[in-house]
Amino acid sequence: MTTIITNIKELLQVRDTNVLKVSGKDMKHLPTLKNAYLLIDGDTIVDYGIMTDLNNMKADTVIDATGKLVLPTWCDSHTHIVYAGNREQEFVDRINGLSYEEIANRGGGILNSAEKLQNTSEEDIYQQSAIRLQQVMKLGTGAIEIKSGYGLTIEAELKMLRVIKRLKQDFPLKVKATFLAAHAVPKEYKDNKDGFVDLLINEMIPTVAKEQLASYIDVFCEKGYFDLQDTDRILKAGAKHGLIPKIHVNQFNAFGGIEVGVNNKALSVDHLEVLNDNDIEVLKNSETMPVALPSCSFFISIPYTPARKLIDAGLPVALASDFNPGTTPSGNMNFVVSAACIKMKLTPEEAINAATINGAYAMEVGNLYGSITRGKKANIIITKEIPSYAFLPYAFGNNHIDTVIINGQIV
Ligand code: NIG
Ligand code: FE
Repeated sequence: MTTIITNIKELLQVRDTNVLKVSGKDMKHLPTLKNAYLLIDGDTIVDYGIMTDLNNMKADTVIDATGKLVLPTWCDSHTHIVYAGNREQEFVDRINGLSYEEIANRGGGILNSAEKLQNTSEEDIYQQSAIRLQQVMKLGTGAIEIKSGYGLTIEAELKMLRVIKRLKQDFPLKVKATFLAAHAVPKEYKDNKDGFVDLLINEMIPTVAKEQLASYIDVFCEKGYFDLQDTDRILKAGAKHGLIPKIHVNQFNAFGGIEVGVNNKALSVDHLEVLNDNDIEVLKNSETMPVALPSCSFFISIPYTPARKLIDAGLPVALASDFNPGTTPSGNMNFVVSAACIKMKLTPEEAINAATINGAYAMEVGNLYGSITRGKKANIIITKEIPSYAFLPYAFGNNHIDTVIINGQIV
């Protein structure tokens, strides 16, 4: 089955080489082809070029993209899309003046979602999560990382991870799983955090690894959650079982968590709303991807990650949604790209690079996703007729997507 997309006004993120991430000044460059075609065979991109070079190429299906742009699907490297119920009451409480921290201290927040998840059947959680996954696919996400972390008991964490596994099997987009057991200290361990960390290290991590339910290990390294020592212990225990770190860090406070992540060879450090100069120096000497989550900042009114500062220091940045019921009940990567431009002063080129190729790096799928490259998966977005790619983030909140193709199939 071959498909050819013809008369593409501009084909974005075209990369011949094996570029796996872009950093610093290079992020300002988005390689494109104007008046282009793209040839798909089965689930794979096999060729592209400019229309004048297209001589009678035959295909089973022809899609005319006159006036439209084509780009790789978004790579959303940080989500909590598997959850039960919602937390709109906390949203209203925040409108009425409570902070995220005050709500968590009253037993809301992550513990609220954990209680809901523990009391919901695996089938029900799957059905609720599948609806969200379908929605984000239609919004152009073609590869996604999903975390556990609303279980907090071994049974409930395994339940979440099995749901992620089933989504991976049932959906055409690429799914990577992260074990986020250290998301919050459960009520039962309120005065015995070390006991919970021991349980994580001695029972949960070995079980998750043995059942091959996750590729990554995550910790919410934050005041009131898990400290530097806990984070280091948990990441080392994960590494012993082959789980690579991707951590939540510097969301509200900067106290050295990035350094712990980098020292443990974290694939990514995520959030980074609060950053100090030492954090930036530490990142400079690493292969760790800094991940910004602007929808979270937007939703709970906290500072935006100083991504400009990171890029100007020569570092790469990836953008992800953080889709979760507490701080970001949205997985719309189009909005993420807009918010990065509007609020973090990324250029459209930087934001698109951050949400495609660098997102792919942050979940190790760059060999097959994140750019228009021969041999990569045919996961692409065809826009409606729009004047330019800067129009995508500029006309925020509108849906500019005409067609999403995943593995060569229209979804
Ligand atoms: O990434 N910061 C920690 N975890 C989630 C939010 C968790 C919640 O409130 O449910 C986040 O923002
Ligand atoms: Fe998160």
